[in-house]
Amino acid sequence: MTITIARQTAIAVVTIDNPPVNALSQALRQELVEAVAELDADAAVKAVVLICAGRTFIAGADVSEFGKPPQPPHLPDVVAIIENAKKPWVAAIHGSALGGGLEVALGCAYRVAIASASLGLPEVKLGIIPGAGGTVRLPRLIGPAAAVDLVTSGSPVGAMKAQALGLIDTVIDGDLRAGAIDFANDIAEKPVLQPISARAVPEVDAGFWEGAETAVAAKVKREVAPLRALASVRNASETDFASAMAFERETFLHLRGSEQAAALRHVFFAERAAPRPLELAGVTPHDIRSAAVIGGGTMGAGIAAALRDAGLPIVLVERDKAAVERGLANVRAIYDASMKRGRITQAVADERMSGVTGIDDYEMLADTDLVIEAVFEDLAVKRAVFEKLSAVCRRDAVLATNTSYLDPEAISEGVRHPERFLGLHFFSPAHVMKLLEIVPTEETAPEVLATGFALARLLGKIPVRAGICDGFIGNRILKVTRAQAERLLLSGATPAAVDATMRAFGLPMGPFEAQDLGGLDIAAFQRRAAREHGETPFAPVADRLCAIERFGQKSGGGWYDYQPGDRAPKPSEAVAAIIAEEAAGRLQRVWDEGSIADAIILPMVNEATRILEERIALRVADIDLVKIHGYGFPRWRGGPMHYADARGLSDVVAVLDRLAAEGLAEPPCDGLRRAAGEDGFWDLTDGR
Ligand code: 3HC
Ligand code: NAI
Repeated sequence: MTITIARQTAIAVVTIDNPPVNALSQALRQELVEAVAELDADAAVKAVVLICAGRTFIAGADVSEFGKPPQPPHLPDVVAIIENAKKPWVAAIHGSALGGGLEVALGCAYRVAIASASLGLPEVKLGIIPGAGGTVRLPRLIGPAAAVDLVTSGSPVGAMKAQALGLIDTVIDGDLRAGAIDFANDIAEKPVLQPISARAVPEVDAGFWEGAETAVAAKVKREVAPLRALASVRNASETDFASAMAFERETFLHLRGSEQAAALRHVFFAERAAPRPLELAGVTPHDIRSAAVIGGGTMGAGIAAALRDAGLPIVLVERDKAAVERGLANVRAIYDASMKRGRITQAVADERMSGVTGIDDYEMLADTDLVIEAVFEDLAVKRAVFEKLSAVCRRDAVLATNTSYLDPEAISEGVRHPERFLGLHFFSPAHVMKLLEIVPTEETAPEVLATGFALARLLGKIPVRAGICDGFIGNRILKVTRAQAERLLLSGATPAAVDATMRAFGLPMGPFEAQDLGGLDIAAFQRRAAREHGETPFAPVADRLCAIERFGQKSGGGWYDYQPGDRAPKPSEAVAAIIAEEAAGRLQRVWDEGSIADAIILPMVNEATRILEERIALRVADIDLVKIHGYGFPRWRGGPMHYADARGLSDVVAVLDRLAAEGLAEPPCDGLRRAAGEDGFWDLTDGR
């Protein structure tokens, strides 16, 4: 049984206990219906408190049931049964009341919550809309404008805001159960409230719906659910309750089976699995109570801010006093920017900065639990840093490098007790980007690897384990993307056409705009190093741009021209001339949107499959998380591997074969051909 019923004089307390998050499984829905019937029939009961055990109120429908046919009792009916109960129900909310959880609470006559609770309708984040009256009851309770915000953004609001909106009736101080019982005793004496379903929707100003549509459409681009959610709130405001419920349910069921919903569900479960990999189950991570960052440049400052935001005291080590000041100023600039955006107050910024100590020697690190190195990308400089750390730090301190392209094995040579060493590859800006690639060496101890994952949880990041190769998972795939983008230019496409296509595909930026923003020089430096090792990286146009110091926005031009003070890219005649020279003698073809996207995305999939075969990544879903959280791959496409799988791997192989025949891509690797022959991808490392 997931529900127990207790009586406190005339108040019945219905407690749901369905770990981990009290999701509304079929069994729970059935028990809720039975509880209403039982309490309706109990003359001694005047009112009912609905409360949850564990960490949260009902967090929503059970997402794992979404791939299957819906089983009765259906949630809209359960909510209606609660709403029509003979006794008033009071939802007592702690943790999160999300999706179906909030819809159940909207069926209750009253809602109370503790101050730390949050309430929301996150369905659009799963590619669906609320399916149990959320879009229909909400505008009746809090008005269409607030309902549109909640439903189309999917973002929850805290209890205080919820009270201001009229979403909850009161915020309970102290014990929720006791407070809710007192509240129920009070309302039991009052006249019965009109159920939300019977209330009218407040009028909106002329033009409100058109304005809302324009605003939502601009934000969501090609994501379907937010606009459908808006349509459902609008419909609910313009029609009667029963028709509105029918419209909502139909839209919900249709979207539930859509490609976007399947992709977003895949990401939902991948994100939740990532922080706790099965192979580390039972391995105890080290406690991390203090941390140091070596190097206070772009990455060091961002990493320091991320660690500080998680509440750790930080020591920032730089080369000399002047560099210490620059490093601290870099961290402060991060907090200043957050303040400007209204994300934190001056007091919070001051408190964060007061926990960052800048020094230019290593003595203070003798008792630090975790040290992350983010100095120049130079093996000798990094080795010298770890030599000092080896001498000063406790032998169980975790020592990490943030290198992008150097071999962590080589960096760790000479580290005393190398089992405490690993790579922690953050992405820029490190206090914002969610991805953390965790890179163990041969010698990294399991507890140290587990500490990397525990750290990611502490920082609210998505951890992915990566093996050692040039660029680990993400940057290795990025190299292929960039090479493909240049191949397109040499065969008839323009930078503007490629960028526009990739934006239309759902990326925040195309490959050329992105290079101009980040700077072309770092990749050029890496190509030089690769050539010294006998490799032959393909970047004929980028090499020529760097030779004439067109490094991107920072030098006033890169793949595009830029006017001073204007970040808008303008097509460049100089670049067009270089492309024409490099393309001379090559076959030119007409590129449409679909074929540009294929020539960029499918080679990524091919490289990612190699990465799986080489065990650089352990899971297919990990690749999707890397591309979504590190490189802006559209979440609603589920990541490149989910995209390829959903599209059909035999089609992917056929397109790659065609591109390869024209010299426009590498042919599909064996793993991809094998996967196409079976029923989709499997974790290629699982022994098959
Ligand atoms: N269904 C099924 N399982 C769920 C779930 C859900 N709605 N929400 C969370 N879980 C599972 C997770 O997969 C995870 O499982 P695991 O332990 O086996 O890996 C476990 O619960 C814990 O989840 P988190 O790690 O996310 O726990 P946190 O404590 O960090 O967060 C939370 C708790 C804020 C509730 C977070 O889990 C969350 O945001 N969940 C999603 C809520 C949601 O999207 N609800 C709407 C569902 S759609 C809906 O209700 C449709 C309706 O309108 C008909
Ligand atoms: P940066 O040049 O902005 O900062 C490096 C900092 O290290 C400078 O402030 C320098 O004074 C300091 N430093 C150099 N030698 C030092 C020493 N011996 N002791 C203490 N401090 C020292 O470089 P950035 O971009 O922050 O990169 C740092 C590391 O992070 C590199 O390994 C880079 O490959 C990696 N990285 C960079 C990313 C990026 O987007 N910039 C992304 C992910 C990783």
